[in-house]
Amino acid sequence: MSDPSTALPAVVPAAGMPERVTIYEVGPRDGLQNETATVPTEVKAEFVRRLLAAGLPVVEATSFVHPRWVPQLADAADLMTGLVATLGEDARGLPVLVPNERGLDRALELGLRHVAIFGSATETFATRNLNRSLDEQFAMFEPVVTRAREAGLDVRAYVSMCFGDPWEGRVPVDQVVTVGKRLLDLGASQLSLGDTIGVGTAGHVTALIEAFGSAGVGTDRLALHFHDTYGQALANTLAGLRSGVTTYDASAGGLGGCPYAKSATGNLATEDLVWLLDGLGIEHGVDLRQMVATSVWMAGRLGRPSPSAVVRALGGEPR
Ligand code: HMG
Ligand code: MG
Repeated sequence: MSDPSTALPAVVPAAGMPERVTIYEVGPRDGLQNETATVPTEVKAEFVRRLLAAGLPVVEATSFVHPRWVPQLADAADLMTGLVATLGEDARGLPVLVPNERGLDRALELGLRHVAIFGSATETFATRNLNRSLDEQFAMFEPVVTRAREAGLDVRAYVSMCFGDPWEGRVPVDQVVTVGKRLLDLGASQLSLGDTIGVGTAGHVTALIEAFGSAGVGTDRLALHFHDTYGQALANTLAGLRSGVTTYDASAGGLGGCPYAKSATGNLATEDLVWLLDGLGIEHGVDLRQMVATSVWMAGRLGRPSPSAVVRALGGEPR
């Protein structure tokens, strides 16, 4: 086992990269929504606390979706209440997913300040994930965003299936831009472009970012959300960095997937992202040693090794 405090990449900056990026941690939500075993609420809370302690600026904590659709996150209210009790008011600023007004009501009851809606670029996934057609999803989101903004909340919007869809195949770039713009026009502050099943490649990422730019959506409003199914997540991140995107979603240890997209596997691992950024000398504020320790601890709770290459290289076996 390597000692993570000494094993660090050489810092060799490359031209044309941002100086600083924001890592948007989705492990407690995207990671744990896909676990077959139920993770106890107190373990989830400890996971979130450890991630914050490792320096992550944003940790998406859970989802206020229908508990029958995602039973793994049915304890969302208890988790948030427990986090407020231990972390104080700051915990109300942790983002949570809300698909509809019922979800928003549940978040508002707890005084939460940051919600995320999640749309689909394709008809089939909108039906499977939200029980809505592509057009109906906007009607569902519209009052959520309006009411959330009126209440002073920050609203992020995801678009899923931006690079390919397991039922519909290739997804045209223009279709993604149309859906993404509609979500931003509702009043979302940031759009996270999801490669839900990990089929995207670097040129496709560049083309999608350029298409948003041509449609008037700059990189300051975009985030990238890669799943690593085909091992492309880091290459796609490099393409995003070269295009000027500065927010990257990632999941501790590479946990993740989507219960409603059968070919989805884990997200880009936060540790793998941190190793890349450290090597490029790009600031992010996250402590790699603490991240690895957290993912090794979580792997122990889940009873299997982390899929992250960097965690495996630095962390050894779960304990
Ligand atoms: P529906 O069955 O159409 O819901 O589901 P409905 O509006 O017809 O309501 C039916 C009942 O559900 C009602 O209860 C509602 O109150 C209740 P009843 O009156 O019958 O007793 N209900 C709720 N209860 C609690 N919380 C709620 C809620 N909403 C309704 N929020 C719905 C529609 C959107 C709710 C459902 O499809 C759903 O929950 N879907 C969530 C699926 C999901 O969470 N997927 C994973 C996240 S997306 C993802 O992972 C991708 C991402 O990572 C990016 C990427 O990788 O691409 C973000
Ligand atoms: Mg995802």
